[in-house]
This record gives sequence, structure tokens and C-alpha cells, in this order.
Amino acid sequence: MPLFNDIFGLSHQVAVVTGAGSGLGRIFSYALAEAGADIVIIDINPTGLEETAAHVRSLGRQVHSFTADVADEGKVAAIFAEIERNIGPVDILVNNAGIGEAFRGMIHEYPTEDWQRMLNINLNSVFYCSREVLKGMHLRRKGKIINISSIWGLVGGGFLNAGGYATTKGAVVNLTREMALEYAPHNIQINAICPGFHRTGLGTNDPDFVRLMESHTPAGRIAEPSELQGTILYLASSASDFMSGSIIAVDGGFVAQ
Ligand SMILES: NC(=O)c1ccc[n+]([C@@H]2O[C@H](COP(=O)([O-])OP(=O)(O)OC[C@H]3O[C@@H](n4cnc5c(N)ncnc54)[C@H](O)[C@@H]3O)[C@@H](O)[C@H]2O)c1
Repeated sequence: MPLFNDIFGLSHQVAVVTGAGSGLGRIFSYALAEAGADIVIIDINPTGLEETAAHVRSLGRQVHSFTADVADEGKVAAIFAEIERNIGPVDILVNNAGIGEAFRGMIHEYPTEDWQRMLNINLNSVFYCSREVLKGMHLRRKGKIINISSIWGLVGGGFLNAGGYATTKGAVVNLTREMALEYAPHNIQINAICPGFHRTGLGTNDPDFVRLMESHTPAGRIAEPSELQGTILYLASSASDFMSGSIIAVDGGFVAQ
């Protein structure tokens, strides 16, 4: 299908996905590889990374793995320098790595250590990875960055007592807008996806949690990670070349309520 490939194909492109050792990051890596991109995967969990890498390889694409904490600024800088030096210019970055809320309580009880950890992993890592990749994209005047926020980036954490998580995901939404404005004149498109509840390790192994989420979702169900594949391909490909600073909810109607 030439038209399909012209619009959505990613041959000869290099895509970096953080948090690719499980869940959504794994599915994003598979989708980008299926569309023809070579993949660089980063995760703190080496076992998960190896599973993702094996499947990407089976799709006939090149894959390079880095075990690292994306909240470690120095390590992030070293990895992106190595990618540009030894693998190739990065065309696509998916800032996906993230953690759920460890502390479920009100802000007046929130421990500083948990708060800082949340900011470091869910927000600062997006800044660190974007800053490094933009150094090259900016010179080449070409690139796509896709930030994975959440429905909790669009509304407060409310019934989940997810105040720290919602704070970081809201900041990711506005960091997306800020970067989009700065880099749109340089032909770099930067957008965010705000997923609703998808079945991954992030809490959805608990049947009570799933029932709670279903009851708050107009579609009446949570989603499979594969239901985000189309959105990631859209934002990673030339299909979205005139789109920047957009915040796309994929949430079974959650934020429309
Ligand atoms: N699953 C959902 O319903 C949902 C909804 C909205 C947003 N999100 C967001 O999607 C992203 C992926 O979540 P998921 O559901 O796939 O969760 P997950 O726990 O399955 O995957 C997260 C991955 O990130 C990695 N990771 C965590 N901290 C890291 C760090 N410091 N450095 C490097 N890697 C790290 C983990 O090892 C894991 O492989 C997160 O940003 C999450 O907030 C998920």
C-alpha cells in the first residue's frame, strides 16, 4: 500500500523509547518497529528490556538496549551522545518511562522523598531526554517527540489520591506545549498522549482497581496497550507533520465527563 507507507512508514528512521521494558513502552517499540524504524530501548529493568529487544529483532529491525535510570541526568546525556555517535541520528523520541503513585494520601501528609522521586522519574526524565535529543534534532531541523502523559495530566488525581502523579503528568502536558512552540519553527513536532486506563503493570493487576477504573470510564472498560499503537504511529510519522503541541486523550471518554 504505497499511500499507507508514504504516510505512516518509518523506514530508515531511529526511534528511542524510554521505559520500553514492559507495558506501553514495549507496545510502542513493537509498533514503531513494524512500521520500519530501528529501535533504541531504555529501561531500568534489564530483563524486561531483553524481552522487548528479542521481539523487535524478530520483526527484522535493529534494536539497541540501554539499562539506565532516566532520572539520572548524567547517564541520560551519555546514552544520547552514544546513540548519536554509534547508532545514528534520532528521528523519534517517546518519553514513556514513568511510575505510579507510591503514596496515596492527601498533600498535607505527602512525604518529600516520594514527591521528589515522582518529580524525578515522571517529569525531570522527560526534560533530560528531550534536552539531549533536541540538540541533534535542532541542527537537523527534523524530529518527533511524543510524551506520555495521562488523563491525570488533564484533571486532578481526585478519587485515586494521586496528587503527585497528577502534578507530574500535568507538568508534562505543559512542557509538551512549551517545547512544541519553541521547536515548531525548526520542523520538530512535539505532542503528548494522555492514556486512560490500559492493562499494564501499573496497578491494573488488581481486580478491585480494574473495577474501580471501569466504573469511572464511560466506555465501561479499560483498554489493552495495543489500542495505543495507532496513536503512536500517527504522532511518529509524517501523518502528523502539521501537528504540534497537541494533547491527545485516548481514554474511553474519561476526560469528556
Ligand atoms: N497503563 C496505564 O493505564 C497508563 C495510563 C496513563 C499513563 N500511563 C503512563 O504510561 C507510561 C508507561 O506506563 P505503563 O503502564 O506501561 O507502566 P509499566 O510499569 O508497565 O511500565 C513502565 C516502564 O518504565 C520503566 N521505568 C520506571 N522507572 C524508570 C526509570 N527511572 N528509568 C528507566 N525506566 C523506568 C519500568 O521499568 C517499566 O518497564 C508511564 O509514563 C505511565 O505514567 C499509563
